[in-house]
Formats: sequence, structure tokens, C-alpha cells
Amino acid sequence: MASIGVVPSMLLLLLVGCSARPLYPLPSKMENKNRQPLQTSRPYNVAHRGSNGEIPEETAAAYMRAIEEGADFIETDILASKDGALICFHDVTLDDTTDVEEHKEFADRKRTYDVQGVNTTGYFTVDFTLKELKSLRVKQRYSFRDQQFNGRFQIITFEEFISIALDATRVVGIYPEIKNPVFINQRVKWPGGKRFEDKFVETLKNYGYKGSYMSKDWLKQPVFIQSFAPTSLIYISNQTDLPKIFLIDDVTIPTQDTNQSYWEITSDAYLNFIKEYVVGIGPWKDTVVPVENNYLQTPTDLVARAHACNLQVHPYTYRDESLFLHYNFNQDPYTEYDYWINKIGVDGLFTDFTGSLHKFQQWNSPISPDDEDSSALLRKIALLISNYKKK
Ligand SMILES: *[C@@H]1O[C@H](CO)[C@@H](O)[C@H](O)[C@H]1NC(C)=O
Ligand SMILES: *[C@@H]1O[C@H](CO)[C@@H](O)[C@H](O)[C@H]1NC(C)=O
Ligand SMILES: *[C@@H]1O[C@H](CO)[C@@H](O)[C@H](O)[C@H]1NC(C)=O
Repeated sequence: MASIGVVPSMLLLLLVGCSARPLYPLPSKMENKNRQPLQTSRPYNVAHRGSNGEIPEETAAAYMRAIEEGADFIETDILASKDGALICFHDVTLDDTTDVEEHKEFADRKRTYDVQGVNTTGYFTVDFTLKELKSLRVKQRYSFRDQQFNGRFQIITFEEFISIALDATRVVGIYPEIKNPVFINQRVKWPGGKRFEDKFVETLKNYGYKGSYMSKDWLKQPVFIQSFAPTSLIYISNQTDLPKIFLIDDVTIPTQDTNQSYWEITSDAYLNFIKEYVVGIGPWKDTVVPVENNYLQTPTDLVARAHACNLQVHPYTYRDESLFLHYNFNQDPYTEYDYWINKIGVDGLFTDFTGSLHKFQQWNSPISPDDEDSSALLRKIALLISNYKKK
């Protein structure tokens, strides 16, 4: 921190001293080389569906806002359109977060399908082409959140989502979920008998995502692949060594593909099995620390047991609103972050409010963007000087 003040004045001297010459080498190349790396010294800030606490979920605007606010990873759910395009969308139906009901031309598209054993009625993404999906506009899921952005943004594709991360001025990871793979593979067919999982991995590979956790390639383009379906994770582990996270649902919900109970998939035996395929688990936070009458109970040993298997733990979902905060936290989201980071010791947090998690971490374990900036400046200066030496 102490050295920051010095750097701008050094630069100023250079600027004044050489004002007659163009000072900066090709900016685009400089930018790529000096991109601030992914921070790896503190738990990951995972922007759940973008900054969806502020802006409608899974839209380009929500993701760009999350990057602006300090996200380490932008998180998304991948589903498919009727014509096989991979899209960023959470629900298998469009009803809750788009204006589909206002589109008379789609009135006959309402269907009822069995989705993982539950008869579900609505307008399904798998009954719309990408072009049709693009004609819809996204809206805020919760009525108590800002409604001013409703009707302004489109659904985006997986590829558009990846481009947002790759275009960021610092290294921003992605955290895509293979969503409802059993249902998608039942309803959508791809040429050559390809499965949803094949298309998913193919897309990541096309954009240069490769390498195991913390490898040089991975740090350049970090990604965690997540799924609730162990079959999908095991299947794709044969195609890519990119790190994977096994999501774990509420204690009452069996796995969608293998019909295994919560108790089975959180047993030591299962953690020992799945660790061959994944680098971590993503449990619903109220199963890690059970809740009764909106008060936290004694924490389970799930985090300790996962860590003993060398598995990271990235619980979901942290939300600032008092409606979601347990009474122990006195309606203060920072107290909740403090509890999960410093007492429970998680390795990443899915949050609807990237900005508040980022501020909390900057106060408590700063990576100091100022230091990053100043080292970037120093590199620029060194390059400038070396240019002059050559002449
Ligand atoms: C779903 O609806 C169909 C048709 O009405 C019915 O036959 C089936 O039993 C229902 N399935 C479930 C899981 O409720
Ligand atoms: C793994 O990939 C290889 C080569 O593509 C294939 O032959 C094999 O059947 C796959 N194994 C599984 C378990 O999917
Ligand atoms: C899933 O497992 C439960 C409990 O063992 C069983 O009752 C149920 O029939 C199974 N469902 C399917 C679809 O196999």
C-alpha cells in the first residue's frame, strides 16, 4: 500500500519529460498482458446469475455489473433451445423471468412435461428456437427487487456469456452449470447423436478453456463446471480435465439422474468416490448449517469432511435482503459473510450481490487493486524505458 503514492508521480515525471513522443505502445497488447490475474488468496466471489440482486438474472447487463463489482467468477445456468442452441437461463420454463405471456404469437406453446418426476406446466425453452427466444425480454424474478430493467434485455447464448468474461479488462472466470441434463437430453436432439454434455464441453473447448485446476492454462481462462447430476460430471470428466463442482440439493431432494439421497451423496464413501471427478462440492447452505425458526443450528461436519477429501466447498446462495438472512445475522449481510468465511471456512460463495461480498473481502483480506494497478504501471514504465534504450 505504501508505495502507491509514488508511482503516479513517477509516471507524471515521465509524461512531462517526454511529452513530444507517443507514450504508449499498442494498447490492446498491453491490456492483454497486464490483465489483473484471478485472485486465489481468498474465497471466490461467484456472481450467482450475474448481479441479479440488482439487474434481471443471466442477462449481459447483470454479468457486466458483476464484473464491475469485483466478481471472481460469473455464474450461469446452461439450457438449450429447440434448435439446439445453448442459452443462459435458469428455469426450464420461461414464465417467471420473461415476458413470454405477453407474446400472443406463442400462446399455443404452453405444455406440461414431466421434469424429474414433477409435472410442470409452462412455456419451455426447448419448444422455442433461438430466434424466438431472442424476441423475448427478461424480467426480474422477485417483486421486491428493482423492476426498472424489466423488458430491456434479451436472453443470451452460452457463447455470448463467454465473450463477456473474455472481454473483461481483468481475468474473470466462468462458472456454467449443466442444467437439467436428463430433461434436456430427452427433449433436444443434436446431429450425430451428440448429447447436451458434448455440446457444452465443445463450446468451452472452442473458446480455449482447458487445463486442470490452477494450471497455467486454467489461470488464463478460469472455469468451474457445475452440475447436480453426477452422471453428467463423470461423463464429461472423460472429455476434459477442467475442474468440476458437484452441486448438492436440499436434504429432501434425490439426485435427478441417479436418484440418490442427500445422505448417500454426502457420506464419506461417496465423497471419496466423487473426488476422482470433481474438485469440490456446491451445497445449499442451509444443509451445511441447518436452520430452525430462522435461527442457525449447530453446523454439520460436511465442510470438514469435504476438506478432508481435498474437496472445496462453495455453498449457495447468499442474498443481502433481510427476507433471506437468518436472525443470527441481525439483518446484516456482512455478518453472514463473516460467519461463512471465517467460522465455517468455505472456499467460494454464490452471491446475488457481488458488490457486498467484494466490499466485505476488500475490508478484511484486501488483495489491493491499487497494488495490482501500480505493478501494471511499473511494467508499463519499464517497457517505456526499454523502448528508449533501444533508440
Ligand atoms: C403427470 O400427468 C400425467 C397426465 O395427466 C399423469 O398420467 C401422470 O401420472 C402425472 N405424473 C406425475 C408425476 O404426477
Ligand atoms: C471415454 O472416451 C473414450 C474416447 O472418446 C471413449 O472411447 C470411452 O467410451 C469413454 N468412456 C466413457 C466412460 O464414457
Ligand atoms: C428413487 O428412490 C426412492 C427411494 O429409494 C424410491 O422410492 C423411488 O421409487 C425411486 N425413484 C425412481 C424414479 O427410481
